[in-house]
Amino acid sequence: MDIKEDKELRWFDVEFVPEDYIFSKEERPQNLDIPVCDLIPVIDLAKAATSNGHTQSIEAVLTASQEFGLFQVINHGISEKTLNDAMSVVKEFFDMPSKDRTGIVPHMKNWIYTNSTDYAKDGVHLWRENLKHSCHPLEKSIPLWPHKPTRYQEVIAAYVVEIQKLSSRILEMICIGLGLDPEFFNDKSEVQLLSTNFYPPCPDPTLTLGILAHQDPSLITLLYQGNSTGLQVLKDGEWINVGAIPNAFVVNIGNQLEIISNGKLKSIKHRVVNSMHETRRSIATFVNPSPDSIIEPAKTLVNELEPIRYKASRYKEYVHRNKAFGDYTVALQNAVHSES
Ligand code: OGA
Ligand code: NI
Repeated sequence: MDIKEDKELRWFDVEFVPEDYIFSKEERPQNLDIPVCDLIPVIDLAKAATSNGHTQSIEAVLTASQEFGLFQVINHGISEKTLNDAMSVVKEFFDMPSKDRTGIVPHMKNWIYTNSTDYAKDGVHLWRENLKHSCHPLEKSIPLWPHKPTRYQEVIAAYVVEIQKLSSRILEMICIGLGLDPEFFNDKSEVQLLSTNFYPPCPDPTLTLGILAHQDPSLITLLYQGNSTGLQVLKDGEWINVGAIPNAFVVNIGNQLEIISNGKLKSIKHRVVNSMHETRRSIATFVNPSPDSIIEPAKTLVNELEPIRYKASRYKEYVHRNKAFGDYTVALQNAVHSES
């Protein structure tokens, strides 16, 4: 390995996968030799903006959300510069010396950084590092974000503003597709949480996982993955690879939208596998219901033929009960609200 003497050795600078990173046979990927799925829908939002393409695009979004629970969007209006700046500041964050990242961990209240060694399921660690923080209300959240790299707050704030617009547009398309009021989510949804991930190369990715199979506890999640691969979704019992499309967002349906749609839209299981040579970085933004809103199937989607399939729950109680977003989510939300 070509490591300069003054370079800090990190947990992933190893020749073999340490035992406490090896998942059970049932959980680990084993076979990584699967093709990229070209069936996953790609929706061109430039077409959606034309009067001819509008209805077609809404149908495409709805079909994708029913069949896959996931689609990609291109020509979404967020500039390449905004995307590149966000990804490069994320890269800088994870490349900083660890003292700059871990200063506020563990049990800090505004943002949470987890080194892979902090996180374990049944004693097994994920092959990733993660940074999470609240984004709502945005103006109050920004000063609570990492101060290093110095551009972090400015660059990520600009990114989140764009995500707010894009996610509202996508939610509106979904509402129209479901036959709900296009403004159904206007005062009920917020870009609440940003979670960025760093998945370094791994000596044997058949044994490890970047993220375990899970569904998102959001309404929708917008994921920017740069040009990297590694995201997989479970479709008809098989794991399939989601391809990397330059400047695209991966949009997936979360549990809360599945509930509101009374099961019409599916919240799909997904995970991240590691790579031997490539580094993956991703920025996930969770568009969530406001904490006090009651989440239940929309009244207009329930009838004699479509009986109600889900119980109502206050969103913050759901998050608490399911430890959604990990153990610290409630603390993160409280951090922002206690500033008010
Ligand atoms: C998530 C997630 C995928 C990724 O944060 O919920 O699925 O590529 N992330 O980081
Ligand atoms: Ni996810």
